[in-house]
Amino acid sequence: MNAIVAVDRNWAIGRDGNQLCYIPADLKRFQALTMGRAVILGRKTLETFPGGRPLKGRRNLVLSRNPEFAPEGAEVFHDLRTLLSAAPEDAFVVGGGSIYRALLPRCSAVYVTKVDAVWPADTWFPNLEEDGQWAAIEEGPTLRHDALSFRYVTYRRIGPCM
Ligand SMILES: NC(=O)c1ccc[n+]([C@@H]2O[C@H](COP(=O)([O-])OP(=O)(O)OC[C@H]3O[C@@H](n4cnc5c(N)ncnc54)[C@H](OP(=O)(O)O)[C@@H]3O)[C@@H](O)[C@H]2O)c1
Repeated sequence: MNAIVAVDRNWAIGRDGNQLCYIPADLKRFQALTMGRAVILGRKTLETFPGGRPLKGRRNLVLSRNPEFAPEGAEVFHDLRTLLSAAPEDAFVVGGGSIYRALLPRCSAVYVTKVDAVWPADTWFPNLEEDGQWAAIEEGPTLRHDALSFRYVTYRRIGPCM
């Protein structure tokens, strides 16, 4: 299982239910990496997608404790254990904060987009630099979108997953 996330300098990922920024090149990369795979996400992250609809071309495995939540085109799971039994090994965890925290121990790689900015936030990804379980194995060049600088960094787990 892998995760993909965009973070600011403090590993912040969201505020008031929204992402902190939208970078077209990063969205394209997200599409390229996840297309044809299963994506795992929380109900709140699904709500941030256009029209609150699942991502096309991918199995959308959505976690919610609400037994009445049944968005068209998504597979809803009410607990992690059931979701894990249905998720393929190459699934991508795509957020948000609660799902990243819950499933990071199952991930062997994390594709991070590091945006060189600091924003007010209420949701964070665990700081992989402060976690001895992870090593940056690939660091791309600095890229730009308008006034924003960002780069892609891939982390790989050192040692076995849970
Ligand atoms: N920067 C990025 O790359 C990125 C990516 C994705 C999301 N985000 C941001 O992250 C924020 C959302 O994160 P979040 O933590 O607030 O919400 P979330 O993880 O997207 O969704 C939380 C919801 O998932 C369900 N859930 C969580 N754990 C569960 C479990 N063990 N069993 C069953 N259901 C479970 C619950 O749904 P119910 O309430 O329906 O029960 C819960 O309210 C937003 O700001 C979003 O924009 C950022």
